[in-house]
Amino acid sequence: MSDDTPLIRINSNSNIRKYSEDESEYYLDQDDDLSHYGLFTKFIAYVLCIILGLGTLYFFTIFLPDTFIPESTDLVGIQKISNINVYLNPISQERVSELQMGVKNVGSPEQYDEYENENEQDYQSITDSKLKPVERIILIGDIHGHYTQFRKLLSSINYKKETDHLIVLGDFITKGPDSSKVLDYLIANDIDCILGNHEYYVLQNYALFHNLDQPFFVIPQENNDISLAESYEFKIKDNFNSDPEYILARKLQPEHVKYINHCSVIKHLGDVPVVKSKSTSFAPGIAVHAGIRWDLELNEQDPEDNLEMRSYLGPYFNETTSDPSEEDAISWSKIFNMKQKERASNGDNTLVVYYGHDAHRGLNIKRYAKGIDSGCDAGKQLTAMVIWKESHISKKGKENILFKEKSFQVQC
Ligand SMILES: *[C@@H]1O[C@H](CO)[C@@H](O)[C@H](O)[C@H]1NC(C)=O
Repeated sequence: MSDDTPLIRINSNSNIRKYSEDESEYYLDQDDDLSHYGLFTKFIAYVLCIILGLGTLYFFTIFLPDTFIPESTDLVGIQKISNINVYLNPISQERVSELQMGVKNVGSPEQYDEYENENEQDYQSITDSKLKPVERIILIGDIHGHYTQFRKLLSSINYKKETDHLIVLGDFITKGPDSSKVLDYLIANDIDCILGNHEYYVLQNYALFHNLDQPFFVIPQENNDISLAESYEFKIKDNFNSDPEYILARKLQPEHVKYINHCSVIKHLGDVPVVKSKSTSFAPGIAVHAGIRWDLELNEQDPEDNLEMRSYLGPYFNETTSDPSEEDAISWSKIFNMKQKERASNGDNTLVVYYGHDAHRGLNIKRYAKGIDSGCDAGKQLTAMVIWKESHISKKGKENILFKEKSFQVQC
């Protein structure tokens, strides 16, 4: 029986030996056993170290950057001036009430000005087949990442992307809590935009972070060529690493950057209401973030003025400043409005400007300059200016087109 199972006998012998010998010898045996295991353990450990090392290398050089640093996209020229691709189709009074714009003090949106075109002005309707007819043009001032209030404002005016043309007037990102959500919504709904100074700073910081050429401006020519305009100086802040615009720029996805990059500095809106004390007529309108120089043609404007200005500098008002407390500074819209009134009384062409940027002066509606940054980021209001044409049929069956606009606000 013992001959049949030699292995068991050796094992049992060895067991007997171990238990019969003193402790030190026993432990010596154990050490010997471990050092035999050692070669294999060391081999496993080396392999594990190599795998761990490669894994760490992959994690820090490929996985992390791919996950947290978005791919970069090259910047294209920012259009200094462009045309809106829609026109206002006149809507009936019934449709206006459906949109809850004709009734005073309905629901939560506060209502401000309502102007009516009382004079018998015949208006030649636009019939350009390249343009899409819409019921309303809606302009919204500086949203600054306040996504919730932005959506609240849109639902209060019954915004429909199919029948409205919405344009955000710049500074729709930075400062507030949800810049990315605002961007995603603007992109998903194909919303039109004007470049603000904060979008421009973010593009500058984006170029810095991804090592790209700094953003620049282009002027489209009639023959579809473009001419380059100077970009204005990039003022890198000393603490740019903690600059909120730099932090936002680092997180931007290529589609965000492409969206911001395609916003124009100035946009032609077509004819808009010109509100006088007893009547409303119309004149060409434009949208811009901060303002324009009254003494220069639109294609001669300097983008730095258009993105930053708040005041003209006297005595000639042919220079601008972003600092209204500067000596000889006077609100640009005040002078601009005065100059346009002079032009109108001389029978010259006039221009109506819708702008944002000046939260300090708040909602500031003049005949030819309409400021609609009402300070949402400072906890005040977010404003939408809604522009439409209303078709009125007289008792004699004659159609009269009225130019109308009204501002709506939500509390921020
Ligand atoms: C502003 O206008 C005055 C008077 O016409 C002129 O002397 C001055 O050079 C102008 N300044 C600028 C910056 O164009």
